[in-house]
Amino acid sequence: MGTTGRGRFITFEGIDGAGKSSQIAAAVARLRSAGHEVVQTREPGGTPLGERLRELLLHEPMHLETEALLMFAARREHLADVIEPALARGAWVVSDRFTDATYAYQVGGRGLAEARFDALESWVHGGLQPDLTVLFDLDPTEAARRLAGTGQAPDRFEREKADFFGRVREAYLRRAANANGRIRVLDAAQPMDVLRAAVLDEMDRL
Ligand code: TYD
Repeated sequence: MGTTGRGRFITFEGIDGAGKSSQIAAAVARLRSAGHEVVQTREPGGTPLGERLRELLLHEPMHLETEALLMFAARREHLADVIEPALARGAWVVSDRFTDATYAYQVGGRGLAEARFDALESWVHGGLQPDLTVLFDLDPTEAARRLAGTGQAPDRFEREKADFFGRVREAYLRRAANANGRIRVLDAAQPMDVLRAAVLDEMDRL
């Protein structure tokens, strides 16, 4: 594709503990070595205000609707200040999570009405969707085991129980089934190097 014209928008998704972080680093390195300008970012966050909202979202108790609205508020800043300008100048944007996470966590996990989600999604980003989403699919029990092994204090989402992550996982898979091939589901239970090769394959295909 080259670096002229509109850039590409790639997102990574999966339940907590599925191992996104190290795979994202490998993907970004691959795209950079192919000569692309790559903007690596994350949600919630990615802007100064977005990072402040992230702190609240990860640690402050709040109602479900508030959670959904703040996710999309942070996303609006992120799109306006980072994602849209980068794509417009031909850069590639790689984001650790985007709107599919709101579908999985707030609709699937927490039970936000789908019509509310649809309204917010079309308000905040209309027709814009990632060009490619890599979804790391993993059994919640295995994901919990991996999270426990990191020794880090869990945030408000990571403290949720296995049945919550079961619903998040199902919602991700449902969304993938309806995404016309945009969402590529990878089995995150595979050995790290096999998974990494699959991720790099996806980057090369773009
Ligand atoms: P994550 O990106 O996994 O951060 P870390 O790897 O540093 O723990 O975590 C952000 C959390 O926010 C994660 O538990 C999922 C949640 N989340 C939502 O519930 N909805 C959203 O729309 C987004 C973007 C994230």
